[in-house]
Amino acid sequence: MTIFDAFERRAWSGQAEAYGRTYGLLCGHTAPRLLDAAGVEAAAGVGGGAGIRVLDVGTGTGTVAAAASARGAEVIAVDAEPSMVAAAARAVPAAEVRLAALPHLPFPDAHVDAVVGNFVLNHVGKPRAALGELRRVVRPGGRVALTVWPSPPSPGQALLGRAVQAAGVARPADAPMLDPLDDFPRTEDGLVGLLAAAGFTGAVAETLAWEHRVHPDVWWAGPAAGIASLGQLLAAQSPEVVAGVRRQYELLAREFALPDGRLALPHTAVLVAAARP
Ligand SMILES: C[S@@+](CC[C@H](N)C(=O)[O-])C[C@H]1O[C@@H](n2cnc3c(N)ncnc32)[C@H](O)[C@@H]1O
Repeated sequence: MTIFDAFERRAWSGQAEAYGRTYGLLCGHTAPRLLDAAGVEAAAGVGGGAGIRVLDVGTGTGTVAAAASARGAEVIAVDAEPSMVAAAARAVPAAEVRLAALPHLPFPDAHVDAVVGNFVLNHVGKPRAALGELRRVVRPGGRVALTVWPSPPSPGQALLGRAVQAAGVARPADAPMLDPLDDFPRTEDGLVGLLAAAGFTGAVAETLAWEHRVHPDVWWAGPAAGIASLGQLLAAQSPEVVAGVRRQYELLAREFALPDGRLALPHTAVLVAAARP
């Protein structure tokens, strides 16, 4: 396990409940497009994925797994975090849900027809090795579809980071980073190149855009609970510093305020899909 992976494991530890009521709502937006791209179709609305065995890697609280199951697919889901595994198993009783951490999966070669990973590759210390493992477990001709947050981020995605900066909180110099040899550009071309290099064929990427409508307290609750790298950064600050970040957040959030008090946060994600030759 890399230092980056160890950091990620700590950051997600015990976070299923907090994730499900905060960032999980954001990540769910891409589930239908992700499944379409993986060939888990919603033909005639329901049941179009029947007969397809799909693996959801980094399933979190099981949003994508549940959507695949609703499309009639046979679903296998894995996550590196035990609380997520428990939450996903509750959310999708029909699925086989297991504890497993990329880049290693406990399945034989060509075990599934399709693999999906919603905002997971960006949390893995060895993304290239992880893709090699996805290629191994999907059958020849089977599809893989993944989403990743782009860089630079969309204005909605950047809001909390701007608040941290405005409050004068610096990212620690020793924050775990990917090995440059493992890193990749968080762009459509970067993702296409990454999948091609991992031996997939016909890789196509597109940028999905949507507006996440959320109450400001709910958007704050994610990092306040310590979720993801920004949450870990806040968790390392004194209560006074955290209060300062929140003040900056409330000021900056006014740019996105709706008349009903919620925020309309513009988000984008890169969706990439390809096939195993
Ligand atoms: C941003 S969440 C996305 C969860 C889910 N896919 C969704 O759409 O809500 C990232 C998830 O990846 C999991 N994760 C992080 N590193 C992982 C790894 N190496 N292998 C498998 N899962 C991992 C985390 O535990 C977390 O549940």
